[in-house]
Amino acid sequence: MSFPPWVYHGSLLGTIALGSILFKEYRSGPIYKGEELLMGKTAIVTGANSGLGKETARDFAHRGARVIMACRDLEKCAAAQKEIVDETHNHKVLCKKLDLASFKSIKEFTADVQKEVKFLDILVNNAGVMHCPYQVTEDGFENQFQVNYLGPVLLTMSLLDLMIKSAPSRIINVTSVVHAAGQINFSDLNAEKGYHMTLAYNQSKLAILMFTKELAKHLQGTKVTVNALHPGMTDTEINRHLRWNSLRILTFPMRYYFLRQPFRGAQTSIYLAVSPEVENISGKYFSDFEEKEVKSEQFLDDEACKQLWLKTLQMVKLI
Ligand SMILES: *[C@@H]1O[C@H](CO)[C@@H](O)[C@H](O)[C@H]1NC(C)=O
Ligand SMILES: *[C@@H]1O[C@H](CO)[C@@H](O)[C@H](O)[C@H]1NC(C)=O
Ligand SMILES: *[C@@H]1O[C@H](CO)[C@@H](O)[C@H](O)[C@H]1NC(C)=O
Ligand SMILES: *[C@@H]1O[C@H](CO)[C@@H](O)[C@H](O)[C@H]1NC(C)=O
Repeated sequence: MSFPPWVYHGSLLGTIALGSILFKEYRSGPIYKGEELLMGKTAIVTGANSGLGKETARDFAHRGARVIMACRDLEKCAAAQKEIVDETHNHKVLCKKLDLASFKSIKEFTADVQKEVKFLDILVNNAGVMHCPYQVTEDGFENQFQVNYLGPVLLTMSLLDLMIKSAPSRIINVTSVVHAAGQINFSDLNAEKGYHMTLAYNQSKLAILMFTKELAKHLQGTKVTVNALHPGMTDTEINRHLRWNSLRILTFPMRYYFLRQPFRGAQTSIYLAVSPEVENISGKYFSDFEEKEVKSEQFLDDEACKQLWLKTLQMVKLI
């Protein structure tokens, strides 16, 4: 028996279409299905006005949490907040100004939070910048290093007492696989002698992991856990400094297949924030709900982690 050629062509096209949808689905990673509620709990999400942060805030709002959206741009924050409140009917979602490039702003934010809430159950350090041009913050640090690393450290450390008091509580850090290529340059942590944007980015991401590991040690016995995660390559605004971003239309097919939509990228953050499976796990690194090994030599070196911890606390003037 033989079919006319269009049947063959049609089924070939169908197979390709189906295959590419399945491929996309596979690349997108798992969706967290747990139905835990967060009534009566308070969560802070930094960089919550767009991308992963917004999806994370939206999920927490659906679960009934009080959500503090910590954003640099209050206008964008208000728009995202309105969208989330309209959708979830959770009126305990609010915006607060936080600029991680300014220690002063971080201190104002944490003072405000401490005044307003008695407990803090979840902190998601989500905000970050990627591959930005060389810039020095008002505190004298290279911008990427401060926004991705020093700022979240100061924020986390300033909220730690509140989180210990609220235990069990969870700190979650969105980082990236690039730590594998990262190197901490102890002789020039702040890139004063030379700046290379991807080098600085990679360094900031490895630094977060090393700090997380050390912080987890200090938090042993408190029931406050800290974990870091890689969200998958996502198609969000963090890419805005990448050169190919100006070719958005041309790169659409590539982005469609290889980058995750923010909703998918947020799933591991949500998992770490609410799943009972990880309630006792701390100081670890996750991707797609699985604990992953960190292979960086400096990460495995306890002395290097401790050295970075001390140096960092000095830089943010906590010691
Ligand atoms: C997140 O990063 C901040 C600063 O880098 C650090 O204080 C905190 O321990 C980290 N937490 C996690 C879960 O990685
Ligand atoms: C560390 O920084 C110094 C000064 O910029 C530079 O000479 C050195 O090559 C850097 N080392 C690494 C491993 O990047
Ligand atoms: C930074 O990490 C990326 C991703 O792993 C890697 O391709 C790149 O070479 C690294 N950049 C530098 C300067 O080490
Ligand atoms: C976490 O630890 C508590 C107390 O030791 C225990 O009751 C609980 O079952 C543990 N949870 C998990 C998921 O292992």
